[in-house]
Amino acid sequence: MRTGVWLVGARGSVATTSIVGGLALRAGLAGPTGCVTELPELRGPALPAFADLVYGGHDVVTTPLCKRAEALAAAGVLPGRLVAALPDELAAVEEELRPAPTGATQAVRAVAATRDLIGFRDRHQLDRVVVVNVSATEPPAHPHPGHADPTALRAALTGPQEVLPASSLYAYAALEAGCAYVDFTPSTGARLPALHTLAVERGLPYAGHDGKTGETLVKSVLAPMFAMRHLRVRSWSGLNLLGGGDGANLVDPGANAAKVESKQRVLGETLGYVPQGETRIDFVEELGDFKTAWDLITFSGFLDTRMRMEFTWHGCDSALAAPLVLDLARLTAAAHAAGEVGPLTELGFFFKDPLGSPSHSLAEQWGRLVNFTRGLHAGHGGSDEHAG
Ligand SMILES: NC(=O)c1ccc[n+]([C@@H]2O[C@H](COP(=O)([O-])OP(=O)(O)OC[C@H]3O[C@@H](n4cnc5c(N)ncnc54)[C@H](O)[C@@H]3O)[C@@H](O)[C@H]2O)c1
Repeated sequence: MRTGVWLVGARGSVATTSIVGGLALRAGLAGPTGCVTELPELRGPALPAFADLVYGGHDVVTTPLCKRAEALAAAGVLPGRLVAALPDELAAVEEELRPAPTGATQAVRAVAATRDLIGFRDRHQLDRVVVVNVSATEPPAHPHPGHADPTALRAALTGPQEVLPASSLYAYAALEAGCAYVDFTPSTGARLPALHTLAVERGLPYAGHDGKTGETLVKSVLAPMFAMRHLRVRSWSGLNLLGGGDGANLVDPGANAAKVESKQRVLGETLGYVPQGETRIDFVEELGDFKTAWDLITFSGFLDTRMRMEFTWHGCDSALAAPLVLDLARLTAAAHAAGEVGPLTELGFFFKDPLGSPSHSLAEQWGRLVNFTRGLHAGHGGSDEHAG
């Protein structure tokens, strides 16, 4: 199943690491550590092989992909030997990167993005394309009457106003081109009634939001533990220190607020109450792509005895995110092929702020993912819920 992986933000750290990693897997130069779709529980015939993945994307910057890869290698994010071994493959992907569309109205820009996607699919004779948003996090979208349904949206996009945030305009263009859409960021993406209706009309699945790769991943394991042992979490405070493009972008208060909200949701929804404390994200340029998160949890047990735990996470953000981007592209392509339509809630395992998912517990999310993927491999779609 020849599958296009179209990355929005294609020259960023996560996208570049995903592309280099995907090409290295295809060439047999690296193993799949970190790719959950290669675990025995998920591996199987419904998923496109790494060799079947073809990469393209949009970005607002023009830094050559090989330069971004070399910079990531110099920073210790990617092995330099892999970047050095893949010059032709990276040059071929460079040919498929396009500037973010420009134009007087959002309708014009959407048509240009749709054209880029259709051209990519046709040139490579792809069975389908999955668009994955890994561009800079945006502030929350401003409400607009055009968000209500596709007809109102199409009319609004032809005007001079910015009706959709960039992530949603890319989602709209993806759906118009017949492509599934995955949002790895906390941005609005496909989470608007008009885009949901459009996805259903076009028979397309979509997934999101915000890849769960570090501190929130640990929270989604620990919070159910406190809940299941009937321990009362009194406070949970987290401090995240990170550099890189993501860290620099999160200096913006709107983007920072969107990310913090996405990171905190797991606690309220798992514990059933919101303990005191906040999650903070601070930009420390020196740290680059290596993030440190420090969390302090205070809790009480039998007879109100007070206790505390703390943990420190030192993660390489792009190395944690990239295999999940490849997993999501493979799973979403398989779901599309199986006729799944609308939000892929079974992919909640991958996200901090999962679409419509009833549980934030990693163990429960894993169970749903395994069942869903077994259904895809058995050839009868992942679930009755979505079968279109
Ligand atoms: N790394 C992780 O563990 C992780 C986890 C969850 C979510 N994310 C999210 O993934 C995203 C990417 O992270 P990163 O570290 O690669 O950031 P980055 O800053 O390195 O890359 C973002 C890229 O998006 C591009 N971009 C910005 N606006 C764009 C637009 N309108 N159209 C097309 N391209 C655009 C930028 O030029 C840049 O190349 C961020 O939103 C981040 O919050 C990352």
